[in-house]
Amino acid sequence: MGITIWKEKLFILRTEHTMYVMERDRRGILRHVYWGSPAGIEEDFESLPEENRENGYHPYVDRVMEEYSSFGAGHYKETALKLEYHDGTKDFRYRITDYKAENNTLSIRLDDSSYPCGVTLIYEIFEKEDIIRRQVQIQNKGDSPILLERIHSAQFGLPGTDYRSVNFNGSWAAEFRRSEDTLSSGKKVYESLRGNTGHVANPCFILHRNATEETGDVYFGLLAYSGNFKVVAEATPYEYTNVLIGMSDTDFAWELDPGKTLSTPSVYCGYTAGGLGAMSQSLHRFERNYLMPGPFAGKELPVLYNSWYATYFDVQCEEQMKLAEKAASLGVELFVVDDGWFGTRQDDTKGLGDWYVDSGKFPDGLSRLVNHVKSLGMRFGIWIEPEMVNPDSELYRTHPDWVYRFENRKILQGRNQYVLDLTREDVADFMIETLDKLLSQQEISYIKWDMNRSITETGICGDGTVAGKQIWLRHMNNFYRVVKEIRTRHPDVEFEACASGGARVDLGAMQYFHEYWPSDNTDPFDRLFIQNGYSLLYPPKYMRAWVTDVPEGPTSRKAPLGFALHTAMCGSLGIGNNLNRLEETELALIREQISVYKRIRPVIQFGDLYRLKNHEDNCFWAVQYVKDGRSVIFAFLTQSRFGKNRWRIKAAGLQGDGLYQVCLPGGSVRKSGAFLMNFGLEIRLSGDYDSCMILIEQEA
Ligand code: DGJ
Repeated sequence: MGITIWKEKLFILRTEHTMYVMERDRRGILRHVYWGSPAGIEEDFESLPEENRENGYHPYVDRVMEEYSSFGAGHYKETALKLEYHDGTKDFRYRITDYKAENNTLSIRLDDSSYPCGVTLIYEIFEKEDIIRRQVQIQNKGDSPILLERIHSAQFGLPGTDYRSVNFNGSWAAEFRRSEDTLSSGKKVYESLRGNTGHVANPCFILHRNATEETGDVYFGLLAYSGNFKVVAEATPYEYTNVLIGMSDTDFAWELDPGKTLSTPSVYCGYTAGGLGAMSQSLHRFERNYLMPGPFAGKELPVLYNSWYATYFDVQCEEQMKLAEKAASLGVELFVVDDGWFGTRQDDTKGLGDWYVDSGKFPDGLSRLVNHVKSLGMRFGIWIEPEMVNPDSELYRTHPDWVYRFENRKILQGRNQYVLDLTREDVADFMIETLDKLLSQQEISYIKWDMNRSITETGICGDGTVAGKQIWLRHMNNFYRVVKEIRTRHPDVEFEACASGGARVDLGAMQYFHEYWPSDNTDPFDRLFIQNGYSLLYPPKYMRAWVTDVPEGPTSRKAPLGFALHTAMCGSLGIGNNLNRLEETELALIREQISVYKRIRPVIQFGDLYRLKNHEDNCFWAVQYVKDGRSVIFAFLTQSRFGKNRWRIKAAGLQGDGLYQVCLPGGSVRKSGAFLMNFGLEIRLSGDYDSCMILIEQEA
C-alpha cells in the first residue's frame, strides 16, 4: 500500500484493494495507465508498449487517456482546463516539473512551458477505505491575470466504452430517482446551474460494467461541492471513456490574479470489483471516518420531532408546547420548530429575512417554549433560511440592493423570494451575526438550514460592481465561510442541510453539516425509492427520515403507520405527525418503535448497509445493517400478489463461523452466519404495505 514513484516515470497509488497507475510518457504527458484491482509490481508497468498513435487526423493527445488535459493544442475531447493568458493564448502546454510523495499524498506539478502558470495535481489515498481524494491547484506566477473558464477537479480515463452510467433523474419530492444509461458514443452530462446541488442529479459519477449489488467493476467519484457542478462522461472513438468532474463551466469564469492560487473542490473517488454494494459500503465508511464533522461524527443522532407537517406556518406557542409534551412522552430527544416562528411569517409570501421572534405567536418570546422543551428533557431546534429574503420583509425594504438582480429587469421570484447577494461581505456578515444572535440568545442546539429557491440573475453584484461569471464561485466561497464561522462560534450545535428537501445533499455540505433532509416527500412508499438511490452514495445516519400523517401530501397515499415507522427507522428517525390528533394506539406504536430504534440505532447509524433486495422483485425490498456482530434487516412488501408472499433472502456481512440469535416476527432461532448468508432466511409478508424487522445478534 502507499505511493510509489518508479524511475521518475511511473506514479503508483495503492490502497488495500485497488491500484492506480500513471506514467510520464515519452512526450512528457501524464498518461493514465491503470485503475483497478492490484495488478502486479512496478516492473510489470515499466515497459508497456507506447504506441505511436499519432496520425494527421486524430492528434495523439486526443487518443490517449490523460490525467489532466487543457483545451486547445489538439484536444477536441472534453478537457479539464480552459484558460486564456493576457495575450490571448488559449492553451496550457505543460512539462512535469516536480512531484513529491509525502505521507499519503502525491503531488505532481505541471508547468506551462512558455507562461508562468502551474497546475498541481493532488492525490491523497485513504488505504483502508480504498478512496482517493483528488484536487487541483492552479497558480499564477506571473504579473498579468489569467482568465480561467473551466477548471475541473479531476479527469479520469477508463478503458473501453459502453459503461453503464448511474445517476439520478429527480425533482422536488422525487429526489434520487435512480437512472441508468449506456455510454456508447458522445457525451453524457449531469449538471446543476441552480447555485446549489439541486434535486435533479448528484455531483458524482458511477460507471460500471454489468455490476450487480454484489459483483462487477464499478468506478465512482463524488464532488465535495454544493454549487454548480458538471460531470461529463464521454465515450471516445479511441476505446476509452473520458470522465471529468468539477465545478460547472457554464457561465463560469475566474480571474486569477498575479501571485494567486485557486484550489478546486475535492473529488473522492474509488474502484471496486465488488459491485454497487461494495461501492456504497466503502463510501459510507469513508464518509463516517473522514468527512463527517465533529462533534457529532461519533455520536448517535437524536430522535427528533419536527412540527412542520403538523402546523405548517401556523406556529403558536401553546400548541407547540402541547406537541412538545406529547413528543417527550414518546421518547423524542430533540424538538424542532420549523418555518413560521419569525417576523410576519404567516405563509411563504412574507417575513423571510426578519429573523426575530413573532411576538403575536410567542407573546413571551421563544424562551417559554425553549424552557418547556428543556424541562421535558429534550433539546430545542429551529428552522432558518439565511440566504433568502421575501420582497415583503423589513430586510428587503431596508436593503433592496442586497439581492441578485439585473438593473433593468423585474427580479424573478421563486417561492416568493429573492436570493441574497452573498458575494457582498456585508451580507455574509449579516448572516453570521443573525445566526450568532439567534444561537446566543436562546438555548438552541439544532438548526435546520433551508434554501428554497435556485439562484438567477447573477452578473452584477448588489453593490454595483460587475463580478460577471465569478459570482457563482464567490457565492459558494462565502456560503462556506458563513457556515464555517457559525459552526466555530457554536461548535455544539447540530446542523441539518435542507434545500426544498434534498437539493443540498453532497459531500461539500457534509463537511459542515451533520445530516441532510433528503426530501419533502415522506410518503413511505416513495421513500423506499428515494432512500435506495440516496444510499448508493450517502450514509443512513445522514438521512433524516420522518413519519408523517396520512394521507401523505405529495401522493395522497395512506400507508399504515407501522410501515412508515420501519421506513423511517432506516435512517435517522424523526416524527412529524400532528401528535395532538393521533389516537392512543398510534401514539403507543410510535412510542414502542422509538424505543426499539434507540436500541438498534448504533447499528443503523454506524453500520455497513447492504441493499439485499430492490423493488424489481415483486415489490419486495430488504435492507440490512451490520455492525460488530449485530445486525438489523428491514423488509417491505408494497403490494401483494397471489402466490407471492414469501421470500428467501441471504444476509450479508456476518461471520460464516459465528453463531447468531435471529429474532424474527414469529420468534427466535439460532443459526450460523454461513447458513444465514448462503441458505438465507425466509420472510413472509402479505397484504399491501406490510413490513417487518429482523434482529440478528452474534453469540458471545
Ligand atoms: C422546505 C423544507 O424542505 C421543508 O422541510 C420545510 O422546512 C419548508 N421548506 C419550510 O418552508
